[in-house]
Amino acid sequence: MKILLIGSTGTIGSQVLGLIRGDHDVITANRSSGDLRVELGSPQSIKNLFAQLSGLDAIISAVGPCKYGSLMKLSDEDFQFGFDQKFMGQVNLLRFGLRAVKDAASFTFTGGMGGRQPQDKGFTSIAAMNSALEGFVRSAALELPSTIRVNVVAPPWVTETREALGMDLSVGRPAAQVARAYVTALEGSMTGQVIDADN
Ligand SMILES: NC(=O)c1ccc[n+]([C@@H]2O[C@H](COP(=O)([O-])OP(=O)(O)OC[C@H]3O[C@@H](n4cnc5c(N)ncnc54)[C@H](OP(=O)(O)O)[C@@H]3O)[C@@H](O)[C@H]2O)c1
Repeated sequence: MKILLIGSTGTIGSQVLGLIRGDHDVITANRSSGDLRVELGSPQSIKNLFAQLSGLDAIISAVGPCKYGSLMKLSDEDFQFGFDQKFMGQVNLLRFGLRAVKDAASFTFTGGMGGRQPQDKGFTSIAAMNSALEGFVRSAALELPSTIRVNVVAPPWVTETREALGMDLSVGRPAAQVARAYVTALEGSMTGQVIDADN
């Protein structure tokens, strides 16, 4: 398959790349490195990315920055940042990416924790964007042609991220394990699903 992977240098994305690059033709796109460049928060940048691409079998997004912070400290700009990046960025990957994919293709996005069973404080913006993304994917699947699949992977805390933040390592899953959920989405036949990567 010809696959566009966005976020290929990240904690999760680099593990996804490791799992798929042996079997597929993978084109990487990130903000500051990769085969191509893209800024997720810029609709024009996403349009420019897809103007360079065609005939894709799959688009995988392992990206979506969002602001962590307590409810009363998050600013308007902090909430807007998550909306522009994590939510609209991935919405736009579908809207503008449709012109660059084959008649049968899959889109896999990245959500995360918090929307369904919030457990930690500081996740109001992140949880809201993850829930919005889940709703978008479920609804978009109803409108897309039956040969176009769209799913969202919901990673739990990643062990490497918690380690980097100096957090308790009894919680979390290794990025290599989380990455398998993206392969499940890529190779499966599901659409409109939230794939829980905590298994
Ligand atoms: N890590 C966790 O514990 C965890 C848990 C749940 C959900 N998630 C979600 O999983 C996704 C990836 O997390 P991660 O920890 O793997 O991230 P990460 O290590 O920070 O890597 C992010 C990747 O995305 C690229 N990127 C960042 N901002 C971008 C932008 N605005 N436009 C284009 N590319 C951009 C980075 O490339 P450059 O360096 O070139 O910018 C990098 O390749 C995020 O949506 C995050 O919310 C993560």
